[in-house]
Amino acid sequence: MASASTLPPKTNGTLPRVDGPLKVSGVAMYTSDYNLPGMLYAVPVCATIAKGSIKTLDTSQAEAMPGVKKVYQRKNMGKLFRTAPSGGLSAYLDEKRPPFDDDTVRYYGQYVAAVVAVTYEQAIAAANAVIVTYTTEKPDVRSHLETDEKPKVDSERGKPDEAFANAAVKIDENYGTPVETHNPIEMHASVASWDGQNFTLYETTQAVVNHRDVAAQMLGVPAENVRVISRFLGSGFGGKLWPWPHCMIAASAARDLNRPVKLVVTRDMMFQNVGHRPRTQQRVRLGATAEGKLVSLMHDSLNHTSILDDYSEGCSEATSYSYSTPNLRATSGVVKRNVGTPTSMRGPGAVPGLFALESAMDELATSLNIDPVQLRLMNEPEKDEGLNLPFSSRHLVECLHVGAEKFGWSRRTPQVGSMKKDGVTLGWGVAGCSWIAERMATQATVDLRDDGSARVSCATQDIGTGTYTVLSQVVSEKLGIPHSRIEVVLGDTALPSGPISGGSWATASVIPAVIDAIEKAQQTIFTAASQGTDAPFAGQKPEAFAFTDGRVHLKDKPASSGVPFEAILVKGNMRAISGQGKSEGTLGAPDRKFSTHSFGAQFAEVTWEPEIARLRVSRVVTVIDAGRILNPKPARNQIEGAVVMGVGMAMFEATRYDERFGVPINNNLADYIVTTNADSPEIDVTFVDYPDKVLNPLGARGVGEIGLAGIAAAITSATYHATGVRVRSLPIRIEDLLQAPARRTA
Ligand code: MOS
Repeated sequence: MASASTLPPKTNGTLPRVDGPLKVSGVAMYTSDYNLPGMLYAVPVCATIAKGSIKTLDTSQAEAMPGVKKVYQRKNMGKLFRTAPSGGLSAYLDEKRPPFDDDTVRYYGQYVAAVVAVTYEQAIAAANAVIVTYTTEKPDVRSHLETDEKPKVDSERGKPDEAFANAAVKIDENYGTPVETHNPIEMHASVASWDGQNFTLYETTQAVVNHRDVAAQMLGVPAENVRVISRFLGSGFGGKLWPWPHCMIAASAARDLNRPVKLVVTRDMMFQNVGHRPRTQQRVRLGATAEGKLVSLMHDSLNHTSILDDYSEGCSEATSYSYSTPNLRATSGVVKRNVGTPTSMRGPGAVPGLFALESAMDELATSLNIDPVQLRLMNEPEKDEGLNLPFSSRHLVECLHVGAEKFGWSRRTPQVGSMKKDGVTLGWGVAGCSWIAERMATQATVDLRDDGSARVSCATQDIGTGTYTVLSQVVSEKLGIPHSRIEVVLGDTALPSGPISGGSWATASVIPAVIDAIEKAQQTIFTAASQGTDAPFAGQKPEAFAFTDGRVHLKDKPASSGVPFEAILVKGNMRAISGQGKSEGTLGAPDRKFSTHSFGAQFAEVTWEPEIARLRVSRVVTVIDAGRILNPKPARNQIEGAVVMGVGMAMFEATRYDERFGVPINNNLADYIVTTNADSPEIDVTFVDYPDKVLNPLGARGVGEIGLAGIAAAITSATYHATGVRVRSLPIRIEDLLQAPARRTA
């Protein structure tokens, strides 16, 4: 029974991860942890060419090896269908070709066969014994991108060409970002089982509902015959948003052999078969008055894509609304290469796009001799000039002011190499950032149970960002019961349909549905409290009640006069009362009245030792406007992680292809360099915390991606300030720094 002493502890929104103990104790089940009775292991055979076709595929030796159940290839795979065109994010996937669909090889590592055996070792050995011969052609993985196709115009206003031609000051530069590979610690995996009618698929997916819909269509069964489960994920960074071919190999083999099948993608396959952020090449033209007011902005971007799928990175995502300018055009196009299909990576579009745009703004500031913070303040728009709509909530100016103050920006001297500290040269750079804020249609259920507990359930998932924790917190705050009495159930298509864990939308989407579900459950409790002769408040109208600290009471009486909700259930012999909540999506909504985005300001410091050409990122101050921050602890953690990833983007990360053979050559964590602790700067995270009530009743937007946007541009701008070298093609390489004028005079 609830009493003052058992009321929820006041967390002040800093509740530690509710799933933390499960993870550190090894109780949390990740996909590859599932071992089902009679389970077999699948190991794919990957093409060793990047372009050509399969001439012969000899599986006889592999089939005769110990433990081998079957070797699949095009001829015996069984039917796999394509998904129907749907538009939007329904039954969506990036690599649309079903595995083994034809004998053409279009990228290095493409699956050409798969062995299923009793043990993993037997499957590997047999996969190595499959003999494939190819007709080989020269692949095209060139990094320079060109196309004769007319680019798509993403946004246009005024007369950008004329205004640029007549501008007093001009910047016209090309920027590039390399292929980046998602490297979550948990590898992609599928554990598929089939009971003669229904599939149960344990998957590493950021979107169980979409995964179910894709799998049902490709396997040719009704959606209700597929259940997808993803309770815990070792992150995804966007790479696990959509299904990849290995999922269908596992599911199809499980059906064919009538045994569960596990397939775990290896680290090297992660560089081939499960997407990557594509290479981008971007031209930015800025025209400005001598005072620094933008008169024209043109942003033309290309990204590479695979031979069969057109994946557009969307580099213009933030271009049309970032700055005030009467004349603007943003275009984009794709160029086909012999690579696997690219996919979303944390902040797709905006992150590489803002690297180019914010770098160009820094170059404009330099050529005008205006402080780069000042230049941004001067060009701050009053509304979204691309959509001609007001912003729901934009506090970029405050982010710049707060960041400048925290960073100590007023002490910056603009001359290259002019700032020294402890024998090293300092460079200071700044960039603005933004990211879309949207919601997906969501349903959720909240059960109030006779033991005083509450259960909240939704077919969304927690990719490690804190969805379990934030939902527990919202339910605790709304019901006034402690976290120990709340069960959050996610990651299962048997639950009410929920959003993807992507776009930084999950929190903003789920919370309104959960609040709606809580309110509906409370209404039903009020009815139960008043109906029937022995109900505790027999004869009262449901409108007369309030719900405070887990207790039902009359509105005009204190909470202490009421009864705990569980007492009403016990009295009525009910195990649970459910509320079904829902919320609408905003994505693609026709009658949009506001432009909804998150914003932020990134300040970076680098240290530079010209004698040995050593550059390090030493300090980042990041100020984020992401609406109301529901729990600063995981929110801060998201921003810190994004900054660390941004250091990787600026300094280290690039997937390199051998242009002769189309092979991703640094396909492992020794050669693909990611930021380590030793590379991580001191990070200061501030949230300006303005609730965005346009987006949802709590005013929360989402923090998964915004922290990465702008970081690389802040670092390359700081690098220019320290070294005099303007790096326009990421990552910054030592070869770039050896050109430093500051080094030649050192
Ligand atoms: Mo994010 S790239 O939408 O997982």
